[in-house]
Amino acid sequence: MIEVQKLYKRFKKLMAVEDVTFTAHDGEILGLLGANGAGKTTIMRVISAILQPTSGRVQVDGFDVTRQPDNVRGVLGVMPENWGLYGHLSPRDHLHFFGRLYAMQPARLEERIEQVVELLQMQEYANRPCEQFSKGMKQKVSLARTLLHEPRNFVLDEPTSGLDVMSARQVREIVNGLKAEGGCIILSTHILSEAERMCDRIVMMDRAHKVAEGTVAELCQQAGKSNLEEAFVSLIGHEDIEVIL
Ligand SMILES: Nc1ncnc2c1ncn2[C@@H]1O[C@H](COP(=O)(O)OP(=O)(O)OP(=O)(O)O)[C@@H](O)[C@H]1O
Ligand SMILES: [Mg+2]
Repeated sequence: MIEVQKLYKRFKKLMAVEDVTFTAHDGEILGLLGANGAGKTTIMRVISAILQPTSGRVQVDGFDVTRQPDNVRGVLGVMPENWGLYGHLSPRDHLHFFGRLYAMQPARLEERIEQVVELLQMQEYANRPCEQFSKGMKQKVSLARTLLHEPRNFVLDEPTSGLDVMSARQVREIVNGLKAEGGCIILSTHILSEAERMCDRIVMMDRAHKVAEGTVAELCQQAGKSNLEEAFVSLIGHEDIEVIL
């Protein structure tokens, strides 16, 4: 379970997240939806114990991100918005490296690397240097790393961004599989149809604020609209938004 309570995050003069509260439960996919710069990535980085909150409380499975960041990292899988790969290292090299950072037992790590390589169908290129990889291949290495230490909670920042139809589908299937196993998943996306299809509940963000929260049906009802796009525009209250349908 991931709990965000009265979260504020300020970067110098800029308030990137202001008074945001929500809870993501086990066995649930919670979508973070909002225009560019709304504060989605910032919230995810605070949950991931990468950024300190300015104020408020954030807990993952009861561990506090400020006081127990190592415990949080142990129970959380993070797929960042931009994750640099080491060009000269292969996917297997990356996974060995991160498995050691997570202090996984060597035998377990070997076994787990084979599992994620198979799950993500990376067998063909698992030993090749990442330098020339396509966007989809890189996303898969990032997702493999996210799953490696078998966390039960996940923050996935635009996990299907830039992927072709088949790769995006595969990523969605894997995320749905994590949910079926009881995982707690927060994902951000700009793709409304994807949010509609995948997310049990949605938190709508606009300019650092949470403007609405609920199932797609609840959000549509709240806005008095028949689809998520119309509801989004109505709830955000202005049209200078950039989302893909
Ligand atoms: N490290 C930082 N230092 C200063 N300002 C930052 C930093 N990270 C984010 N911001 C600012 O905080 C605001 C929220 O950014 P954030 O990346 O959280 O938005 P987002 O909702 O993820 O947007 P996108 O949809 O484009 O990914 C933006 O105005 C951004 O410029
Ligand atoms: Mg972002």
